[in-house]
Amino acid sequence: MAKAQTIEAGHGKDGVEARIRDLLSRMSIEEKVGQLNQVEGSAHDVVHALGADLRAGQIGSVINQVDPATVNELQRIAREESRLGIPLLIGRDVIHGFKTVAPIPLGQAATWNPDLVEACARMAGEEAAAAGVNWTFAPMIDICRDPRWGRIAESLGEDPVLTSILGAAMVRGFQGETLSDPTSLAACAKHFAGYGASEAGRDYNTTNLPENELRNVHLPPFRAAAEAGAASLMTSFSDIDGIPATANTLLLRDVLRGEWDYDGMVVSDWDAIKQLCTHGLTETEYEAAYQAAMAGVDMDMVASAYRNHLADLIACGRIELAVLDRMVANVLRMKFRLGLFDGRTTADAEPSRMASRSLAKQAALQSCVLLKNDHQTLPLDPTTLTRLAVIGPLADDPVEQLGTWIFDGDPERSVTPLAALESLAADTALSLHHVRALATTRSHDQSGFDEAEAAARDADAVLVFLGEEAILSGEAHCRADIDLPGAQVELVKRLKATGKPVIAVIQAGRPLTLASVLDHLDALLFAWHPGSLGGAAIADLLFGRACPSGKLPVSFPKMVGQIPVYYGHKNTGRPPSPDTIIHIDDIQAGAAQTSLGMTAFHLDAGYEPLFRFGFGLSYTSFAYSGLILGSEAIAPDETLTVQVDVTNTGEVAGEEVVQLYLRDRFGSVTRPVRELKAFARVALEPGETRQVRFELTVEDLAFYKRNQTRGAETGAFDVWVGGDSAADLHAEFALTEDSVALP
Ligand code: GLC
Repeated sequence: MAKAQTIEAGHGKDGVEARIRDLLSRMSIEEKVGQLNQVEGSAHDVVHALGADLRAGQIGSVINQVDPATVNELQRIAREESRLGIPLLIGRDVIHGFKTVAPIPLGQAATWNPDLVEACARMAGEEAAAAGVNWTFAPMIDICRDPRWGRIAESLGEDPVLTSILGAAMVRGFQGETLSDPTSLAACAKHFAGYGASEAGRDYNTTNLPENELRNVHLPPFRAAAEAGAASLMTSFSDIDGIPATANTLLLRDVLRGEWDYDGMVVSDWDAIKQLCTHGLTETEYEAAYQAAMAGVDMDMVASAYRNHLADLIACGRIELAVLDRMVANVLRMKFRLGLFDGRTTADAEPSRMASRSLAKQAALQSCVLLKNDHQTLPLDPTTLTRLAVIGPLADDPVEQLGTWIFDGDPERSVTPLAALESLAADTALSLHHVRALATTRSHDQSGFDEAEAAARDADAVLVFLGEEAILSGEAHCRADIDLPGAQVELVKRLKATGKPVIAVIQAGRPLTLASVLDHLDALLFAWHPGSLGGAAIADLLFGRACPSGKLPVSFPKMVGQIPVYYGHKNTGRPPSPDTIIHIDDIQAGAAQTSLGMTAFHLDAGYEPLFRFGFGLSYTSFAYSGLILGSEAIAPDETLTVQVDVTNTGEVAGEEVVQLYLRDRFGSVTRPVRELKAFARVALEPGETRQVRFELTVEDLAFYKRNQTRGAETGAFDVWVGGDSAADLHAEFALTEDSVALP
């Protein structure tokens, strides 16, 4: 076998492009097609299984191999025993951790802390790079307003701005300062696009997204990720208005390459090219390969459709060689940028485990959201408590607290709530009585309830750990009923009947409908799936060693029938209000059809969620005052300063997420009643006041207008600043003229 030919050194954009052209000029059609082929690599005999294809240059990437020695051997064969020595992309879903696991992305979103989210991605990337991974399939930045959808767990929630800012932070974290650093992973923003709108919250289902909503709601996070330098994007499984994303030229050609001038690589999702036949878009795999290639998918994730058909499509002239070369160039560019041609090897060390644990705990602390705390039930005081009942199936499960998409999570690194409570109680007079009560959250067997009730009766307070196991969220794990599963509500009622304070800690991969249990709880801490150090964080929060600061990145519906319910909705022609609605139980006999509010609400649920976007309680309280705009009107080329004073009016230190919302009152298309535009975390001592300033530009006012071009339109705007999406400290300003068209 001819020795791999050396690739001349060359760096920087021009250098890389020259090296790409040089390599392309020496590649055969088969070798070019080989670069577009990603194969599954988890088999134990993968080196033997893939050896021949590697030597023939028929593989551009391997997915799901994370043994460093095996990865190094696969790279060695590709570099030393193939004709051109082109190294491999080694892909893995490193979504919210590798061995040390951070909270699920939806939980990380509740931190509203871009720096922390970036650090978590960095930690995950460094641990994965030590296993030989150089490409992660993250961040997942699908906007999701339907908690029935299992993959909401992987998302950053319902809002385009929060998702854009945090998604870009994840890209920076994974890719680091330089992508070629051995500890950096190439990011892959996914799933492009609109996947979070899967109809009925059923995974892989169709999405009916009008172009204006696609552009204004679902595309901004991908643009932010692209602008943050995301090395790749992944197409969504779903079809958009009848055209699957994997063959969608509007997305992949017009928007991504044409409007955004993106020069990264596009990979299909798993087998998605072949699924174009299942969708019924193409009759044959041959046609599927044609449509995906012509739409702009560069790499085929494990379908072998490109390997099977691209050479024929080139030979018969249906696909021009230039199209193939562009696809291969996108793959090679990513490999050059990763430093793979310049000797990059598997990172030789993981980050320090202590540093990873500390970061994972910090993320879990800031991700938990205090949703209820009647009569200051929390924080608990270990000096006044003598007995604490610790009940429930999720009090002590080191795997479940890690959440979904943790292929490589190490449960040995987990600290469960029970373990943390035991170590916290060790040097106090506090004793704990743990009763699992239910085998799983799905169990309907109440035979453990008597023991749980007895423990509660004997205790000063009850901690009940509820929720969903990780298997109930994530890919393909959707629920039509998002109540607490099994007999958990019955368990809470039994515990509350003892008359003791009942504090619930809920771990779940989605918002749940909690109306049926909320009245039986004195306090509720929502912990998502909090990751390896979730238990330590929960214990610290329960006992006041830390102050809750999480804010909801997604609305919690009262009942599943409200879905979708989200803060950034349109006003409609008949907006509801407290005086225009009536509850089903209040309707008088004989009421006339027109006697009701005739506005947009549900008779049995009203129109507001149970918990709104941006909401989260603290052990202290905050007050807002002094909202001042820098001007009453701005031109498109001017900046509007917005300042506000925030005061900690409570007795303990705390962190507040100050949120700024806008409303564009009139537009060439209807506009949301509120849109998050900026936010800032502020740490305040008791009694301390801080002035917070934001700067708004035309970019913050811009949207895709009726003609699908982007810009800001003349008119009046409302501004609100506060601690959640119902902020009522208000001001207004005007934009004096339309902006020019923006890219
Ligand atoms: C899955 C997911 C995608 C993931 C890929 C590789 O089906 O849709 O998010 O990155 O396959 O595991």
